[in-house]
Amino acid sequence: MSREMYNEIDLAKINLNAEPPTEEPARQYYFMAKCREWVREFERKNGRLPCFFTQTFGCQMNARDSEKLTGILLQMGFAETEEETADFVLYNTCTVRENANQRVYGRLGYLNTLKKKNPHMMIALCGCMTQEPETVEKLKKSYRFVDVIFGTHNIFKLAELMWRRLTENRQVVEIWKDTEQIVEELPVERKFPFKSGVNIMFGCNNFCSYCIVPYVRGRERSRKPEDILDEIRRLVSEGVVEVMLLGQNVNSYGKNLDTPLTFAGLLRQVECIEGLRRVRFMTSHPKDLSDELIQVMKESGKICHHLHLPVQSGSSRILKAMNRRYTKEQYLELVDRIRAAVPDISLTTDIIVGFPGETEEDFQETMDVVRKVEFDSAFTFIYSKRTGTPAAAMEDQVEPEVVKDRFDRLLAQVQQISARVCARDLHTVREVLVEGPDDHMEGYVTGRLGNNTLVHFPGDPSLTGTILPVYLEESRGFYYMGSPLPVAGT
Ligand code: 5AD
Ligand code: SF4
Repeated sequence: MSREMYNEIDLAKINLNAEPPTEEPARQYYFMAKCREWVREFERKNGRLPCFFTQTFGCQMNARDSEKLTGILLQMGFAETEEETADFVLYNTCTVRENANQRVYGRLGYLNTLKKKNPHMMIALCGCMTQEPETVEKLKKSYRFVDVIFGTHNIFKLAELMWRRLTENRQVVEIWKDTEQIVEELPVERKFPFKSGVNIMFGCNNFCSYCIVPYVRGRERSRKPEDILDEIRRLVSEGVVEVMLLGQNVNSYGKNLDTPLTFAGLLRQVECIEGLRRVRFMTSHPKDLSDELIQVMKESGKICHHLHLPVQSGSSRILKAMNRRYTKEQYLELVDRIRAAVPDISLTTDIIVGFPGETEEDFQETMDVVRKVEFDSAFTFIYSKRTGTPAAAMEDQVEPEVVKDRFDRLLAQVQQISARVCARDLHTVREVLVEGPDDHMEGYVTGRLGNNTLVHFPGDPSLTGTILPVYLEESRGFYYMGSPLPVAGT
């Protein structure tokens, strides 16, 4: 793990006898310093540092948020552990589908048994699930042992909320419905030294009829391009060679900025950062993917030839009910335009099966799109009814057995195509970013192609973070076995 230091703020210089500052991020540094005093006291009493454990559910956005939460905890002096028996356990939750919620409640039951053995243990919950009022009611009523409950808009306030828990000695709940605020310059603990996610925007305005995200992540807010570029430059100076620009719908980036800038325009600027080797982004909504973006991808030497382009369904009728605002034909035509400009593009997608009213004919339209586009991979989901979304109130919800049968057929089709498509670079030499030692084979390392496919090849772990030419010797369905090329001059 590696630390991103902001402003080199020295917590020891903060006057803790003064009132907390009102402006951010100074206010949070004040509370980090307060909590650090508590950590020192804990250490004196127990002869060890208090430790924390975080678990992240859900998407890349949550993963990035967890890096920020971890950064704050480390700044306060906590030690990280992989054990759920930690003194402080934090779950960053997801609510996009019902089963994600069930998993969290299951884990909480287990944590309660741990807390009975260690009453000093603190449990905190944040993320998308806690943005739902019913969840918070349930937690307040039946999960009193959860100490701190906060949401997606105020994760930057972890230190302040913990301090409140330590001083008020009762369950602390703070959920914001929405926010305009983007707090910059807080500590972040990155999982990988050589690659990093970078938020470019938060929230979503699309209101796809099945989706809870706009309700729990709020309205679209773009970060200022200067802040994004500064962050990437700093990351590069710390050894990062690949960034993943993150947003629920990156193609509508910049619309609400004082000086509007398109996503393609932002990419052009990111591309110019010296030392940065690879740029990825996710997620792209098909309705907003511009010709300008296709052009930038075509001209770029750094943007990876990979697009995650969720189709959700192949039936224009269902797409309309989903409020996706494109038809099957428009999606296929967009794919053609992208492929004409960037022939070696890898396309991945998300597909929902069993949306209310979906018939066998609608499903066959989805299968048709899968066969026509030949996705490198597809995340397939069974439709999950989310309270409060328009689709939850729709009649003719599809029978579970019918959905399961369609899901199995879709998965088989996706996997069959995927195995063939993923082998397309066999017997060629490609650049691989080495991610670390191979988990299964001694003397091997694992890395990724620009299109995200995994490659395993003989190598030393010291290669981690470098980009090397590798000969793709054998395809094993979803990954390659390769051999490194001798580097010129050695
Ligand atoms: N049910 C099933 N899948 C869903 N997704 C979003 N909401 C739901 C839902 N209610 C899927 C979409 C989206 C991905 C992140 O999760 O395919 O692209
Ligand atoms: Fe949900 Fe649609 Fe927004 Fe994606 S674009 S987060 S599916 S509402």
